[in-house]
Amino acid sequence: MANQVAILLYLCWGIAQCPVGGAGRAFTRDGRETVERWVQQPDTSSPPASACQVSIVNRLDCYPDSLTDEGKCAARNCCWSPVEGALRYRGIPWCFFPSSAGSGYSVTSRSQTPLGFSAVLQRSVPSHWPRDVMKLKLDVTYEAESRVHFKIYDPAVKRYEVPIDTPRVTSPTSHMDYAVTVTPSPFSIRVTRTASDTVLFDSSSTPLIFADQLLQIGTSLPTDSIYGLGEHRQPFMINASQPSRLAFWSRDQPPATNLNLYGDHAFFLGIEASGDAYGVFLLNSNAKEVALGNTDGLGLTYITIGGILDFYIFTGPSPDDVIQQYSRVIGHTFMPPYWSLGFHLCRWGYGSSAGLKKVVKRMRAANMPYDAQWTDIDYMDKHLDWTYDKTKYSTLPDVVADLHAHGQHYVIIVDPGISSTQPNGSYPPYDEGLRDGVFIMREDRTGPLIGKVWPGETAYPDFTNPQTPVWWERMAKSFHDVLPFDGLWTDMNEPSNFVFGSMNGCPPNNTYNTPPYTPGIASGKLPDRTVCPSANQYLSRHYNLHSMYGHFEGIATNRALVSIRQNRSLVISRSTFPGSGRYMGHWTGDNSADWDNLYYSIPAILSFNMFGIPLVGADICGFSGTTTEELCTRWMQLGAFYPFMRNHNAIGSKDQDPAVFGPSAQDSMRTALTTRYTLLPYLYTLFYHSHLTGSMVARPLFFEFPQDTNTYPIDKQFMWGNGLLISPVLEKGKTSVSAYFPRANWYELDSGNLVEGSGSSITLDAPLSKINVHVKGGLVIAFQKPEVTTTLSRLNLFGLLVALNESGSASGDLFWDDGDTVDTIETGQYNFIDFSVAQGKLTSSVVKAGYSSPAMSLGSVVVYGVQSQPVKVTVNSRSMPFQYDTANKALRVTGLSEDLLKPLRVSWSAG
Ligand SMILES: *[C@@H]1O[C@H](CO)[C@@H](O)[C@H](O)[C@H]1NC(C)=O
Ligand SMILES: *[C@@H]1O[C@H](CO)[C@@H](O)[C@H](O)[C@H]1NC(C)=O
Ligand SMILES: *[C@@H]1O[C@H](CO)[C@@H](O)[C@H](O)[C@H]1NC(C)=O
Ligand SMILES: *[C@@H]1O[C@H](CO)[C@@H](O)[C@H](O)[C@H]1NC(C)=O
Ligand SMILES: *[C@@H]1O[C@H](CO)[C@@H](O)[C@H](O)[C@H]1NC(C)=O
Repeated sequence: MANQVAILLYLCWGIAQCPVGGAGRAFTRDGRETVERWVQQPDTSSPPASACQVSIVNRLDCYPDSLTDEGKCAARNCCWSPVEGALRYRGIPWCFFPSSAGSGYSVTSRSQTPLGFSAVLQRSVPSHWPRDVMKLKLDVTYEAESRVHFKIYDPAVKRYEVPIDTPRVTSPTSHMDYAVTVTPSPFSIRVTRTASDTVLFDSSSTPLIFADQLLQIGTSLPTDSIYGLGEHRQPFMINASQPSRLAFWSRDQPPATNLNLYGDHAFFLGIEASGDAYGVFLLNSNAKEVALGNTDGLGLTYITIGGILDFYIFTGPSPDDVIQQYSRVIGHTFMPPYWSLGFHLCRWGYGSSAGLKKVVKRMRAANMPYDAQWTDIDYMDKHLDWTYDKTKYSTLPDVVADLHAHGQHYVIIVDPGISSTQPNGSYPPYDEGLRDGVFIMREDRTGPLIGKVWPGETAYPDFTNPQTPVWWERMAKSFHDVLPFDGLWTDMNEPSNFVFGSMNGCPPNNTYNTPPYTPGIASGKLPDRTVCPSANQYLSRHYNLHSMYGHFEGIATNRALVSIRQNRSLVISRSTFPGSGRYMGHWTGDNSADWDNLYYSIPAILSFNMFGIPLVGADICGFSGTTTEELCTRWMQLGAFYPFMRNHNAIGSKDQDPAVFGPSAQDSMRTALTTRYTLLPYLYTLFYHSHLTGSMVARPLFFEFPQDTNTYPIDKQFMWGNGLLISPVLEKGKTSVSAYFPRANWYELDSGNLVEGSGSSITLDAPLSKINVHVKGGLVIAFQKPEVTTTLSRLNLFGLLVALNESGSASGDLFWDDGDTVDTIETGQYNFIDFSVAQGKLTSSVVKAGYSSPAMSLGSVVVYGVQSQPVKVTVNSRSMPFQYDTANKALRVTGLSEDLLKPLRVSWSAG
């Protein structure tokens, strides 16, 4: 059947009008010319009217390849029913398959298994898609109390499955929060949360299709408030009632709405009106799409063009539970080096090592906290990986030595494309890569696929080949001997290609390059801006592995760095996949310097925290375009609360490092940086928890207040952990901000001024010098006196900020280690301290004391919400002087020097 498809495609290439079932010229959603794909026609009779009674959400697009009309639709024997007011490209097909296409599978047998059950599903009538798998197997595994796993696959022929490590469960769970039911004919599967009787997944309303290159399954939704489904530019909350279609296929695509971006994360969390939450993860790396929208019931439809249907459902019930349950499947985040939580500075186009030196100098002169300097592709010699420009950047090694001498770090960009046109013997990355067979091979396996990226013609390392990480590390090591970088920035790893598929295009007679159905991706063509899906990789076709390219590159890069530096290292990747957070962080790609991009960074940061990649940030002040002093100030203030903070700029735009601006902008930026550096022990502790449990670092408000439905759509404010609420200004010219405060005590970070949250919005002053940050009552937050680098700030005294709740209590903790050594938790080389406060007394308990150099000393304690002036303050039984701010009810005790690894007792007695 594949051959038939191919022949028709080939013959009709470029012909204006082709017969039914053939191909012809057409236009994509964005108006560009494309080639229509062929849709199989098993019969030629027009469908009976009853078969066209398909609800809008269940319509399977019969004409996904172009805009169509009734005549063209009828020619494919499909149903035609325009939807008034709905634009076709927003996701509601006007021309769709009759319902008979979907009612095909029935359960023919069912059996118990040690951890669940299996069923055999049989289709009697083929669907409209080539190569139906007529007999399927369903495996349902009760993996954990709150996690069920089900797989639908071909039991006869092994199909591609996503090569990431997921838990292998071998013993049954003693208790389950859910029930799974299967309806035999037509087959459907349903997962219910037992405690609330909520149906979390129910496939009965959408036809199940399992053809070789078209797999479809749908589910009802118990809520219209869902989150996730990345990487897309969208508000944080996706309203599942609004028709839309999200496509997944990693792409070098500057963020824009309705387009598939750099990464692929087919996970979502839904929050129900009761405040309960659940999650659904489709483990599938093929090009795919999710259609949303409703008329007669909420629903979501998945269409993927390969692999199997492999689902995990998480029952929560709290949002944080859901993310921890998801993280357990994909893996927890790596422990970032402490320095990577400092401020990073980069631009494309420093021009020379002298230009770079100038910026480093003025940053130091301006006293800006600043831990890492980066360089973009212009440091390279002719854009060749693992080289530097010995003319323009002749003194780069000196700049790096100087950074290191100042306790700072250095990060370089590295692209996957390896130049294939250097003279033989002159460029080891290519010569040795070719020798070791590390490159992605052409479809016919006669040689590496050659595309084109920054250095010109390039081959693409296949990081799924076990030889490749060995070669990659060797290249990194020999360059590190010359230029001792501390982190690697893996860009262009969708992988990006400046030509379509390869220098020779892609074999047209090929079902991987032009599959029967292409999800609604930008340009409508799989090979666009990347390598041919038909190309061969070690583990499988690029068709299957495409969206995991950055993931595999990141694993290899992380391993190389750790092995070379023998310390924790930093990998920041543009393309990511579920599980990437175990090895790398992410920045949100090539944004631009405008206010819209400032806002959209928040939904992106929150989404990636849900995706298990908490070390994430957007390019502060904007990558492309020219920033303004006001925008850049606001962006540095917001960016000070990105888990990963980097200011980065495109070539040709004017400088935007903090030190280039006027004195008052510099002051505002320095204040934001200082606030961040002060709070780093708290941020680091949040990463520790994330590493251990999968809980999120940056969180939306509804994670802490799931009962408060007003918080569900909020994405202009966010939290760090459960303690800090950040309310940035996101609009030009504004000096106030409307901020929502859920029911709790909130204290302004610096002053302790109380905001009694009542579940409403309050207008806060927000002059250009200030970002509003509030601490939630009930928290103890550890901080440290800031310095211009973390190398220095780590030597300073700690402080504790106590924010009392309504009952005068609070709790918190602190994780601490050297911030560099690999696996300190596994080897016990860390400290962990619990703090709790009640009735005017703060006590600590040292849970773990495994790291002692330098000593951890407590210099100050600040308590917010002390109702009346204390008469006496004692610290470890010694009476201590203190200050009490009557207006803000804030108690401050300074001048301390207490060993934090000994139990601490601070008490204040009421007047
Ligand atoms: C989602 O959109 C629907 C239809 O426009 C609207 O009725 C509903 O209130 C929205 N839901 C949320 C949570 O905003
Ligand atoms: C490059 O040179 C080496 C040694 O002369 C030779 O063995 C190899 O085949 C050459 N490679 C190519 C691609 O020409
Ligand atoms: C298409 O490929 C098939 C094999 O996959 C081959 O038999 C057929 O001749 C090819 N058609 C053209 C037009 O190249
Ligand atoms: C106050 O905080 C304590 C300790 O974290 C907690 O046990 C208590 O429930 C909180 N009380 C209120 C009213 O939030
Ligand atoms: C590795 O970490 C240790 C401990 O912080 C530090 O002393 C050393 O300089 C680090 N090495 C590198 C190459 O950064």
